[in-house]
Amino acid sequence: MTITALGLLHPGEMGVTVGSAARASGLPVRVALVGRSEATRTRAREAGLEDLGSLADLVAACDGIVCVCPPHAAREMAVAVLALGYDGLYLDANAVAPSTMRELAALFRGAAGGARLVDGGLIGPPAQTSGTTRLYLSGPDAPAFAPCFREGALAATPVEGPLGAASALKMSYAAWTKGSAALLAAVVAVAEEEQVAGPLREEWRLSQPQLVERADLGLRGTARKAWRFEGEMLEIARTFAEAGLPAGFHEAAAEVYRRLAPFKEADPLPPDQALRRAVRQRRG
Ligand SMILES: NC(=O)c1ccc[n+]([C@@H]2O[C@H](COP(=O)([O-])OP(=O)(O)OC[C@H]3O[C@@H](n4cnc5c(N)ncnc54)[C@H](OP(=O)(O)O)[C@@H]3O)[C@@H](O)[C@H]2O)c1
Repeated sequence: MTITALGLLHPGEMGVTVGSAARASGLPVRVALVGRSEATRTRAREAGLEDLGSLADLVAACDGIVCVCPPHAAREMAVAVLALGYDGLYLDANAVAPSTMRELAALFRGAAGGARLVDGGLIGPPAQTSGTTRLYLSGPDAPAFAPCFREGALAATPVEGPLGAASALKMSYAAWTKGSAALLAAVVAVAEEEQVAGPLREEWRLSQPQLVERADLGLRGTARKAWRFEGEMLEIARTFAEAGLPAGFHEAAAEVYRRLAPFKEADPLPPDQALRRAVRQRRG
């Protein structure tokens, strides 16, 4: 099946660059901005995406849809699209467990409209420069999306294996990047609580110099995004548990990010010390 008009749910910082890559490849890209924030509206406008208003109008006007949203909303978005009788191709590019993807596939099989699901996983920063960002694709209908990203900064990259393989790759990748960032934040916070942050830093300088730099980057880069990392960590925990591995690493990482979630709208961010205090909040 050839995709002739692409719907995008929704143009966040990453999503809008997915839309721009599709536009660069010659496709009209449509969005449904009813209920979306001013920031999302501005991004869509600046990228030249066509706002159709409601989800119903978008579903009726597209034969391909890409969903790039917070992981905890992935299922809700797919259910809403299927409830509107969608009959095209649907790419879920969210950071979810392969088993979540298989659950979505069961929903698609049971839906009346005949829509078909493709699995995607995004790795890299928002795709503004070629070579930085991959959209991994898996499942029998994955090749249909490759032409949508023939040009532009996003590299559509097939992953061998069944539907769920692209998500499994994303889960494995983020298990380390975001999981280790949460662990490092907790390590610095515990050292501060025990008043050994200075000696720890000095020991790192001698034996683990890369950690000094990484700890210095600290929480500033992630604090505003932490509200959506909790869901991603829980998807990774689920992936681990289903592979017979301990889920606790990423359940703890989810807790670290949950504690930072109130900084979503913070502008400016408070000083690093205040962020670390939030990480080591005591319960009860
Ligand atoms: N940013 C990155 O560097 C990066 C890297 C790799 C993968 N990704 C993937 O891309 C996803 C989105 O990242 P992003 O950077 O685009 O995030 P973002 O800038 O926070 O944008 C999220 C988008 O989803 C919308 N949204 C928020 N809550 C929603 C909900 N409950 N249901 C449906 N839509 C909702 C937002 O609309 P409002 O503005 O109206 O809230 C916004 O348009 C991530 O979760 C991750 O899976 C991102």
